[in-house]
Amino acid sequence: MMNRLEGKTVVVTGAADGIGLAISDGMAAEGAHVFLGDIADDKGTAVAARLRADGLNADFVHCDVANEADIASLIAAAVEKTGRIDVLVNNAAIAIGGMPVYEMTDDEWHRLIAVNLTSVFRGCKYALPHMIRQKAGSIINMASAQGHIGLDGWTAYAGAKGAVMSMSRQMAVEFGPHNVRVNSISPGTINTPMNEQVIAQLGPGLMQSWIGMHPIGRIGKPSEVAEAAIYLASDAAGFTTGIDLRVDGGLTATPRFIPHNS
Ligand SMILES: NC(=O)c1ccc[n+]([C@@H]2O[C@H](COP(=O)([O-])OP(=O)(O)OC[C@H]3O[C@@H](n4cnc5c(N)ncnc54)[C@H](O)[C@@H]3O)[C@@H](O)[C@H]2O)c1
Repeated sequence: MMNRLEGKTVVVTGAADGIGLAISDGMAAEGAHVFLGDIADDKGTAVAARLRADGLNADFVHCDVANEADIASLIAAAVEKTGRIDVLVNNAAIAIGGMPVYEMTDDEWHRLIAVNLTSVFRGCKYALPHMIRQKAGSIINMASAQGHIGLDGWTAYAGAKGAVMSMSRQMAVEFGPHNVRVNSISPGTINTPMNEQVIAQLGPGLMQSWIGMHPIGRIGKPSEVAEAAIYLASDAAGFTTGIDLRVDGGLTATPRFIPHNS
């Protein structure tokens, strides 16, 4: 354990599991006070209790990122308790896809956009005034390799992730003069409950294809994405803004879609 985020207040959405959980664990271990938002109340409460039992600073706040009032309350809880918000990680998202776009319903489209994209707009909307007042802040938005490359069946998801990336870049330009940094992270395939759900939906054979798509020869671990987020949150990244940091085992560096090890 080091102290790369000592004294910082961090808000993470989708913090109860997967990548958000790894980010929360990692940032708390680095000395941050982490406010975990999620719809999974039992899991989120248990994570915060575990971190506190380890002597770290963490609070769980119920937050459905599709609900504007919930996002406002999550950020308000952090600011009320610690007086500030240094880092916002807009991480929560859902995977609706695996079908051609003409089979996606309007309800599915609107649900995906609400959870994966409008949530990012709202998180930034409520965090930025505090960061501008503080003259310091780091926003990290979770994009995806699918914002860079195409994969059959994921048009809406890829659209939302591409928008997350370009919105991040835009805000980096606009709020840089206030010393507020905005970056995104594009993970490749990471071993999380989200992908367990996709495998359950589309079949176990998909795992070998995923492994083969990544030049590193495996899928990633949530902690490997958390390390990138810790860097972007920390003062070590003080001159880094407007970037998309790919944590993808080389996935987007190659046009290879056929497993190389089969
Ligand atoms: N797993 C991957 O391979 C992968 C790849 C690229 C990008 N990503 C992105 O990383 C992020 C995290 O993905 P993951 O794989 O850890 O997901 P996950 O499904 O494993 O975990 C997501 C967490 O978000 C919570 N959540 C879901 N809907 C929510 C809502 N409406 N409000 C608040 N919380 C909600 C869930 O309860 C869960 O705790 C997402 O933005 C995802 O798009 C994941």
